[in-house]
Amino acid sequence: MGRIIAVTNLKGGIGKTTTVVNLSAGLALRGAHVLLIDVDAQGNLAMALGVKPRRTIYEVLVDGAAVVDCISSARPNLDLLAADASLLTAQPEIARRPDWARVLEKALLPVRSRYDVIIIDCGGSLTVLNLNALNAATDVLVPTTTEPFSLKGLEMLIQQIRQVKGGTGALRAIVPTMYDARTRQSVELLESLRVRYGDLVLPPIRVNVRLSECSAQGQTIYEYDPRSRGAIDYAQLVEQMSERMSIGSAAARPSPAPPQAAQPRPASAEPPLVTGAGSMLSASCPNCGRPLQRATVASYRVTYCDHCKYRHQDLAAGGRR
Ligand SMILES: Nc1ncnc2c1ncn2[C@@H]1O[C@H](COP(=O)(O)OP(=O)(O)O)[C@@H](O)[C@H]1O
Ligand SMILES: [Mg+2]
Repeated sequence: MGRIIAVTNLKGGIGKTTTVVNLSAGLALRGAHVLLIDVDAQGNLAMALGVKPRRTIYEVLVDGAAVVDCISSARPNLDLLAADASLLTAQPEIARRPDWARVLEKALLPVRSRYDVIIIDCGGSLTVLNLNALNAATDVLVPTTTEPFSLKGLEMLIQQIRQVKGGTGALRAIVPTMYDARTRQSVELLESLRVRYGDLVLPPIRVNVRLSECSAQGQTIYEYDPRSRGAIDYAQLVEQMSERMSIGSAAARPSPAPPQAAQPRPASAEPPLVTGAGSMLSASCPNCGRPLQRATVASYRVTYCDHCKYRHQDLAAGGRR
C-alpha cells in the first residue's frame, strides 16, 4: 500500500499548498506516481497547477462517486482530486454520517495501491475534512513559518495529531517555510524549533517571490524558475522526503550507484528537472566526517550531509534569483 501524507497546520497562509504542489511535482519528476488531494474549499491546488477539473472531491465524499472517476491528470505521474467552493456545503452532509471521520479514508481504499504516495493539502482550521485527512494519513508533514506564534500553534497541532492518531508516530517532518535568514527572529525561531523537535525539522524553505509568482501562473517552481532558491529548497525537500519515507523504493534510497543516474520517466517527457537519488559520495562531510550525499536539481548539484545538515550547492550555469 502506498503512503498517504497529510500536509497540515492550523494556520492558513503559511505555505501548505506551495509545499504540497512543489513536493508532489518533484516526487513525480523523480518517477513516483503521485495523487494530490485538496480538502480545502478554496480550491487552490487546481489553480496552482493550472488545472481546470471537470469533477471534484465533493462528488466523492457526498455523492459517493468513485475517486478514479473524479481525478484530473495534472502532469505526467501527477494526478489531482481537486476541490472547489462546493466543498463548504459538504461538511454538514458528511458530519451527519455515522462514519463521518473516515469517509475519505474509505473512499481512497480502491486507489491506494495505484500510487506510490497520496498527498493531502489540508485547510487552515480544524474541520471535519481535516480530521478525515488526518485519519486517512499514514504520515503527517507540518509546514510552519518561523514567527513568534508558530511554536505555540505547532504545540496545539501536535496535541491534535496525538488525539486523532493515538500518538505522534505519524509525524514525519516539520518544514520551516518563508524562512528569512536576514531576520534575527527567523534564525532564533528556527533554532528553537530544532532544539524542541530535533531531527523532525528539515532544512528551511527560504522566502522567495518566485514561489508566489509560479502559483499565480499555474506552474510548479521547477517549470517557472528552476534556478530559483525556491526550486533548490523544494528539490532538497523532495530528496529528504523520498529518503525518509522510501518513496519510489530503491530509487529513493542512497545507493553506491554513480551520481546523477538516470531516473525512470515517461518516454515522451522532457528530461526531469529533479534528478539524482541522493547518491552516496566518497567525499566526507567537512563538519562531521560522515559520507556526503548528492542530488541534482535543475542544473544544480546539491551536496549534503544527512547527519549534521551540512549543505553545499554548485550552480552548473547561469545566475541565482
Ligand atoms: N517560501 C515562500 N516565499 C514567498 N512566498 C511564499 C512562500 N511560500 C508560500 N508563499 C506564498 O504565500 C502565500 C500563502 O501560501 P500558501 O501555500 O497558499 O499557504 P497555505 O496553503 O498555508 O494557506 C501564497 O501567496 C504563496 O505563493
Ligand atoms: Mg492552502
